[in-house]
Amino acid sequence: MKLFDVYPLNDITIVKGAGSYVWDDQGKKYLDLYGGHAVISIGHTHPHYVKRIEEQLHKVGFYSNSIKIPLQVELAEKLGTVSGKEDYQLFLCNSGAEANENALKLASFYNGRKKIIAFKKSFHGRTSLAVAATDNPSIVAPVNETENVIFLPFNDEASLEKAFRENEISSVIIEGIQGVGGINVAAESFLRKIRSLCDAHNAVFIADSVQCGYGRSGRFYSHDHAGVQADIYTMAKGMGNGFPVAGISIAPKIQPKHYMLGTTFGGNHLACAAALAVLEVMEEEKLLKNAEEIGGYLVNELNGLPGIREVRGRGLMIGIDLPDELSMVKKNLLFKHKIFTGEAKPNVIRLLPALNLGKAEADIFLEALKTELNKV
Ligand SMILES: Cc1ncc(COP(=O)(O)O)c(C=O)c1O
Repeated sequence: MKLFDVYPLNDITIVKGAGSYVWDDQGKKYLDLYGGHAVISIGHTHPHYVKRIEEQLHKVGFYSNSIKIPLQVELAEKLGTVSGKEDYQLFLCNSGAEANENALKLASFYNGRKKIIAFKKSFHGRTSLAVAATDNPSIVAPVNETENVIFLPFNDEASLEKAFRENEISSVIIEGIQGVGGINVAAESFLRKIRSLCDAHNAVFIADSVQCGYGRSGRFYSHDHAGVQADIYTMAKGMGNGFPVAGISIAPKIQPKHYMLGTTFGGNHLACAAALAVLEVMEEEKLLKNAEEIGGYLVNELNGLPGIREVRGRGLMIGIDLPDELSMVKKNLLFKHKIFTGEAKPNVIRLLPALNLGKAEADIFLEALKTELNKV
């Protein structure tokens, strides 16, 4: 059997990782400012993470949600404290798309409505409703097409008010910082407008924090910068530092009923151990503060460089928007300078490193980027 060929691949085989570095099968060392798409939050093979998962594996790796799993309760308590949402409720699942799927479904159970507001350039995943709320027709199969999603311009309050006037809205789903769409930061006033319209119309505010959450922006959820509380936060990527674990954090006003949501693998023992290890390291190493500081340093330095069209983002979620003549910079960073970065169309370099990235690593990147910019 061969692989179903859906990914354009770089000709690199990673065999080892430690902190913000990975090594290929030729022994070449790379600086990882991509984290396998914002997933590596506490660094590759962090010793505490490895130890906690290993210890759990020796006890029990998996059992389903038909029995008590105290690790889930421990995780919910820890997440409540670290995220500042002690009174919220946690439902665990396995991926970002699944988290958004459950959030959109739960909102509809809650208020009995169908219409969802999503935004231009959004990405919410590839399952049925999540993909329908994603602004990319090329990944929406005919069976996913629905009249229930209304796409509005990002950060446009007038069109949001109009949509609420004209429709019975079930939920509004928004990334605090759009990731796949090119690192676009939601205006704080826009997030506050969503909150007030949702309150006025009994609609559910869903904060997609799959990529921009879990400390990446310097606050636990990037929506926190606006001082608003969402009704449901969805999270995945950084939550397990590579172990597939995701979840939704649900406001107290949304009450559970047995069987309303469910999953076989979600919240298993190993996944909880991984997620707990991540939160413990985040607290112990004060990673939110580090994300804010190193991110701030990078943005400051980047703003002083010539040739860049725009620098966007917050904390360690940074987009470097380059003009067309610099479209080869990302490839050169990887193959000449051995630095992994992410990209967004048409020409945005995305930095999504581990949250414990050091200043020395930030400087290595800045030097490499300067060399590339000076060539033009
Ligand atoms: C904002 C956002 N939501 C949802 C998803 C989907 O997550 P997953 O690939 O884990 O299903 C992604 C993935 O890139 C994302 O960036």
